[in-house]
Amino acid sequence: MYRIVSQLNTRDESYQRNLDQMMGILGTFKSELRRVRSGAPAAAITRHKERGKLLARERIDLLLDPNTPFLELSPMAAYGLYDDQFPSAGVITGVGVIHGRETVIVANDATVKGGTYVKESIKKHVRAQEIALENKLPCVYMVDSGGVFLPEQANVFPDKYDFGRFFFNQARLSAMRIPQIAIVMGSCTAGGAYVPAMSDEVIIVRNQGTIFIGGPPLVKAATGEEVSAEDLGGAIVHTTMSGVADHLADDDHHALQICRNIFESLEKPDRQELDIRQAEEPYYDPRELYGLAPVDLKKPVDAREIIARITDGSRFHEFKSGYATTLLTGFAHIMGFPVGILANNGVIFSETSLKGAHFIELCVSRKIPLLFLQNITGFIVGKEYERRGIARDGAKLVHAVANAGVPKFTVIFGGSFGAGNYAMAGRAYEPRLLFMWPNAKISVMGGEQASGVLIQVKEEQLKAKGKTLDPGEREQLRQEILEKYATEGSAYFSTARLWDDGIIDPLDTRKIIAMGIAMSLNNKYPEPRFGVFRM
Ligand code: COA
Repeated sequence: MYRIVSQLNTRDESYQRNLDQMMGILGTFKSELRRVRSGAPAAAITRHKERGKLLARERIDLLLDPNTPFLELSPMAAYGLYDDQFPSAGVITGVGVIHGRETVIVANDATVKGGTYVKESIKKHVRAQEIALENKLPCVYMVDSGGVFLPEQANVFPDKYDFGRFFFNQARLSAMRIPQIAIVMGSCTAGGAYVPAMSDEVIIVRNQGTIFIGGPPLVKAATGEEVSAEDLGGAIVHTTMSGVADHLADDDHHALQICRNIFESLEKPDRQELDIRQAEEPYYDPRELYGLAPVDLKKPVDAREIIARITDGSRFHEFKSGYATTLLTGFAHIMGFPVGILANNGVIFSETSLKGAHFIELCVSRKIPLLFLQNITGFIVGKEYERRGIARDGAKLVHAVANAGVPKFTVIFGGSFGAGNYAMAGRAYEPRLLFMWPNAKISVMGGEQASGVLIQVKEEQLKAKGKTLDPGEREQLRQEILEKYATEGSAYFSTARLWDDGIIDPLDTRKIIAMGIAMSLNNKYPEPRFGVFRM
């Protein structure tokens, strides 16, 4: 494969300015992430430790194989919500390796409101199970939770993807022979009791773990019976009388070791074959991504320069390099794994859509995972393009993306606007993982365009009543819309609501995509199957 020849001049003034701005953005991101990770109240942490318990992230570290990475998902979930009282939404999720096997971990953080669940915690838990399903990864649930955060019950209890979905998913995953293992390290109350009860194998920690459908206060209120938590649903009760748990552990360390031992008896996965090569660093320095990351979305960035700092040896076998140049398509390797890349280099035209759909068909038929690098303002608009059928051709690309059976991975490195988000494997198109760079922006359209549309609609309404918008009112409306779009379009707003799997340092893009492809190999890629492409 040929190496990309970079045209970048790092001494260029605009590159240096971009670099300075991006370093500021990255610094803010890293300090906010640190703040979130140590965001639980100090008193709650002290109390937790005094009880002889390990913190959620310590538990994960000890469970995983030494010196293997943990791909934490959505660490900034619920950021800026609930007065910031739910750092990481009170639950840590991610993919790590146990006895060489990629595994989904869901660990309650009991130092955050007793490990209770708000809307974003539920979304994280369900998203982790979705990743387990798509990639056939075993699940380990480290349970230490008071269940639903009761003041938020209407937002977490009854809907299809709310609390009840956890147990439905466990039953479905287990039926697909995807192991479900629970370690009860604290409270499992009410609905939460079903996390261990629905698991294939359960460990419970002595004098620490409890499982009950109704806790002591509820039992007292309902029946008048007075009983301690330990007598009602402690480790001895469940490992010697009820049979709800299978293994008795002396403490957190012991429980984690038992869990690792369970992995030695799991069925080996039927893995997807892939032509994996010796990994190679990019020829061009990945740190130059900081100077290239589109901070000002009005300034075009040649996506080839981004690709050159992500792929092995900066090599890229470009497909249709001279045709429909606003979308780059081509083959590469990332840390040895083959990948088909689609990267935006401008707006999407009819021929861009056809090129993208063709390239996806190639990757699907060759069983090569897809990487979408998004920096997209949207589809081309205007009379000429509508008459030439942009909607029909755009639909072909959307159809190909939706039905591509190979794993898809999406990185939003710039803007993600309008239907361009869909055509480039946005969240609704089920990429196996979707990450944003901290400079990235996402919304139905840019703030300028939205203010233009809304002001025009307003003026039409007023005109029908014989009125007009004076310049002061118009400017005020414009500013309000711009501010709203700036807030709602930021990567932080997105990640707080789980529209993505997290914000990442651009430098980690290679590693994360490689981990994503590695985990995808646990489930064989399906045979190609597309529906009707509108011709
Ligand atoms: N809903 C709302 N808030 C809850 C809660 C719940 N289900 N469970 C705990 N909390 C809050 C507490 O009010 C407290 O908040 P604060 O820090 O603002 O004071 C915080 O979580 C920690 O709770 P606390 O009881 O002090 O901690 P603990 O470690 O001693 O006990 C639990 C944790 C979860 C075992 C205990 O709080 C409990 O049993 N909660 C009720 C569980 C329940 O019945 N759930 C049913 C819902 S399905």
